[in-house]
Amino acid sequence: MTIDQNYRRLTLVTAALIYTLIVVGAVVRVTESGLGCPDWPLCHGGLVPPPEQTAVIEFAHRLVAGVAGLFIILTAFVAWRDYRRARWIVGPATLVIALVPVQYVLGAVVVATELQPLAVVIHLGTALFIFGGALVLAVAARRPAAPERWPSRAATWLCSASRLSGCSSC
Ligand code: HEM
Repeated sequence: MTIDQNYRRLTLVTAALIYTLIVVGAVVRVTESGLGCPDWPLCHGGLVPPPEQTAVIEFAHRLVAGVAGLFIILTAFVAWRDYRRARWIVGPATLVIALVPVQYVLGAVVVATELQPLAVVIHLGTALFIFGGALVLAVAARRPAAPERWPSRAATWLCSASRLSGCSSC
């Protein structure tokens, strides 16, 4: 099955967005902006953050998480619609989309527990699984086209045997 060029690009953009999100998450941590928005899903009770550095940084993390989430949904939707039979595409795409709601809830737990270290570590670990899945998908989408059906063992054996016996048309 051949994977469409646009889908290949989509998987790459999705993986790049998740990487960006992880970097922004790290910025949240090192700038100690984790409680920049002490509530969730709003920020200081509003849809937009107040003009404070920590709030803007934390809000940026949530915003990039939202955009990455949309791309992840699209990636999984197209995988199920067009490549249902390609397990190496559907598998990682499903893993990634299954982990995203978990990660959003974990993000909320990180905020609600005021950056409890265990919650932060699980949030980071899940992020790495999501990124890993997205990378596997992007690589799998670039695999050379696999045959629709593998030849049966008997056909392979017969072909090898006739080659050995000098048959050139096999
Ligand atoms: C797919 C979605 C998400 C990914 C991949 C992600 C990833 C990350 C990563 C890698 C970090 C840095 C952790 C560290 O260095 O220890 C982080 C930090 C953080 N994330 Fe997320 N995140 C996501 C969604 C969210 C959401 C939706 C929220 C809020 C509801 C959130 C809240 C936070 C907070 C508060 C921190 C800072 C923790 C601290 O300062 O110790 N994240 N995130």
